[in-house]
Amino acid sequence: MTVFTEETRERAREIIARYPADRSRSALLPLLHLVQSEEGYVSPAGVEFCADVLGLNKAQVGAVATFYTMYKRKPTGDYLVSVCTNTMCNVLGGQEVYDTLAEHLGVGHDETTADGKITLEHAECLAACDYGPVMTVNYDFFDGVDPQGALGVVEELRAGGRPMPTRGARLCTLKEMAVQLAGFADEREGAVADGGPGEATLRGLRLAEQHGIAVPGFDPNTPIRSKAEADQAAAKAKAAEAAKPEPAKAANGARPTTGTAGNAGTGEPAPAAAVTGSTAPDVKAPDGKSPQVRTAETRQPDARTAVPDAPGTKVPAETTPPAPRDAQKAAAAGAAANPPAGDGKPAGDEAGAQERNLKEAEAQK
Ligand code: FES
Repeated sequence: MTVFTEETRERAREIIARYPADRSRSALLPLLHLVQSEEGYVSPAGVEFCADVLGLNKAQVGAVATFYTMYKRKPTGDYLVSVCTNTMCNVLGGQEVYDTLAEHLGVGHDETTADGKITLEHAECLAACDYGPVMTVNYDFFDGVDPQGALGVVEELRAGGRPMPTRGARLCTLKEMAVQLAGFADEREGAVADGGPGEATLRGLRLAEQHGIAVPGFDPNTPIRSKAEADQAAAKAKAAEAAKPEPAKAANGARPTTGTAGNAGTGEPAPAAAVTGSTAPDVKAPDGKSPQVRTAETRQPDARTAVPDAPGTKVPAETTPPAPRDAQKAAAAGAAANPPAGDGKPAGDEAGAQERNLKEAEAQK
């Protein structure tokens, strides 16, 4: 009997519907958060559920679920307390915070208190080094913590309180947070507006204001465009580009001059240094597109957007690109043309390399 409710199934359908029909496996990450929101961790039943709704096998789902630390593999407490013990936080006292909590709660890394309230973990950089040492509770930040402050937070949590994080929305349980991570809005009245960004986050902005630095044409109120609107803008920019008149050629075939900075006598454009002050050589753009067109296309890439192949990739020798619906076939062809590296060792580490190196070293003595 499944442990997942009809509501969860409905949400799963909603998540899958966000992806193109032939790319539904991309829904796996939010779906894993969804099953975690139900049970507090990704159980074997959760893996089976995801495999079932996406038409994958359990090994494929398990491979993803075990790769990311945010997917828990055993029951987790209501509050996941993560203490950063990475370099910056560590020198500022992060390890001391972690050790104090571990001793006080009587649990180690990835362990849960007997009352099921708190799971403690030490975390790698939480991307808030400028607030170190930091700890998060269900991914909400407590900045500049010291051992006493951290103890105060966990004790309040165990007593049923919900202390306010330094930044961001007010705390919720790990299961509630997993619903949000699955892509559903925080429904609590005013929760999202609870906390503004911290001063360290705004420092760059303040300095820019102070020194009058601004990105040309930047408008923070610019709405995020839909794909259709972006496509329209790209098409319009392309048409405007195409409608531009060709630069007139001089009668002798020489290129036109570039005003005072150009070499009026020869018709050659001015060297880069004369125009921009740069001594770097001019690098020709890979295509003749205007920066506006390229930016519009980069923001909203589609199947036709050119993407350079990674060095060493062998592109399957097919003259006609596969139709979007043949993506799985194309993926299989790509995988067949690029066999895995066997033991995963970097080139040069193959069997016998060390022996050869030793022999060469011997020979050079
Ligand atoms: S080292 Fe702790 S947030 Fe970066």
